[in-house]
Amino acid sequence: MEALRGRFIVLGVTGSIAAYKSVELARRLTQAGATVQVVMSRSATEFVRPLTFQALTYRPVEVEMFQIQDERAAGHIAMGRQADVVVIAPATAHVLARLANGFSDDLIATTVLATDAPIVLAPAMETHMWQNAATRANVATLRERGARIVEPESGPLASGDIGPGRLASLERIEAAVVEALTASQALAGRRVVVTAGPTLEPIDPVRFVSNRSSGKMGYAIAAAAADAGAEVFLVSGPTALRAPAGTQLVPIETAEQLRDAVLGLLPNADAVVMAAAVADYRPIETRERKIKKRDAGKEMTLRLTENPDILKAIVAARRAGAIVVGFKAETGDATAEAGRMLREKKLDLVVANDVSDPGSAFGSDTDRVTFVSADGVEALPLLAKTEVARRLVAKLAERLAR
Ligand SMILES: Cc1cc2nc3c(=O)[nH]c(=O)nc-3n(C[C@H](O)[C@H](O)[C@H](O)COP(=O)(O)O)c2cc1C
Repeated sequence: MEALRGRFIVLGVTGSIAAYKSVELARRLTQAGATVQVVMSRSATEFVRPLTFQALTYRPVEVEMFQIQDERAAGHIAMGRQADVVVIAPATAHVLARLANGFSDDLIATTVLATDAPIVLAPAMETHMWQNAATRANVATLRERGARIVEPESGPLASGDIGPGRLASLERIEAAVVEALTASQALAGRRVVVTAGPTLEPIDPVRFVSNRSSGKMGYAIAAAAADAGAEVFLVSGPTALRAPAGTQLVPIETAEQLRDAVLGLLPNADAVVMAAAVADYRPIETRERKIKKRDAGKEMTLRLTENPDILKAIVAARRAGAIVVGFKAETGDATAEAGRMLREKKLDLVVANDVSDPGSAFGSDTDRVTFVSADGVEALPLLAKTEVARRLVAKLAERLAR
């Protein structure tokens, strides 16, 4: 595998019975031309001897953090700095919990905390441990922060049970490592602007017109673009989400503020992804004082005016070669609408989704989308939004490279 040649891979091994399988993983990665630095937790050494890894990777295995020799060169963080990718296979429930909480109490956890490199986690544990709410929450947190989780497989476990929890196949783990290595450079040196969330159009100081956008899709795209090495500006309406690591948040409320923010960033942008749900209309006037019920009476009419066509302004003002991506959320045939939008607004790509599909509903973590571009129509299956985001970023990278 050419993608692995010359790369520095930190392979963390933790205390699961599946640790014996990572011996073979270390061998394969080494044979593919990577330098594999194995770091074992103390528990892992109860299952496999460091010497086994050392003989196959031609490098001393690290276990202890407090090594005075290595500390002359800040050894406890050096590996994280040097790594092109950090993969933990098998990852115990214990290490997932520690990583999700930012612990740095052993060399594996400290390496993960100190690295900018992509992180691949291949959990392995007994089914109940895997399905436990604490483990689910830890995995969700780690995934949200950009870690790639190679989901365990279902099958007979060391405990005698049958169920999910078996370490993923070495082929899948290796593929995730390769994907992380390639994706982490796909947008290096590029500037990407992503808009996300709803806009909020004020009626008076306490009321507004808005929509149900959660911002999850836009935030996932921003995270994936940052993972791919881009400088990312996340222009976002109010959401309950935290800006992903490596992105610069530009908070906005109204459609007009969103337009101004994006147009301001446009001269340096290689790509603009308009995932925000921009309100089509806003109240004609915003009252300076709260509208009183007794003044309004039994009925009240709210007069709205059209918001500016932001996509049109962006397409007109973008720099040559910059890519503009629009989103089309519809209840019904979103693909046909997306095709029309692509042509009329002269976009490079439109991501269409039917929000009446339960898998694609506002606020859900999954989406069934269709990419519509001059290359054709590509309908994706129901996927996690993080995965949709990765595929979209791969498309951006491919188009920018043309
Ligand atoms: C025989 C045996 C097998 C184990 N297998 C697993 C496992 O597959 N997954 C897991 O999460 N923990 C497993 N454990 C528990 C971990 O070893 C234990 O939680 C340990 O504290 C993990 O430490 P570490 O994450 O620092 O390696 C096992 C324990 C024993 C005794």
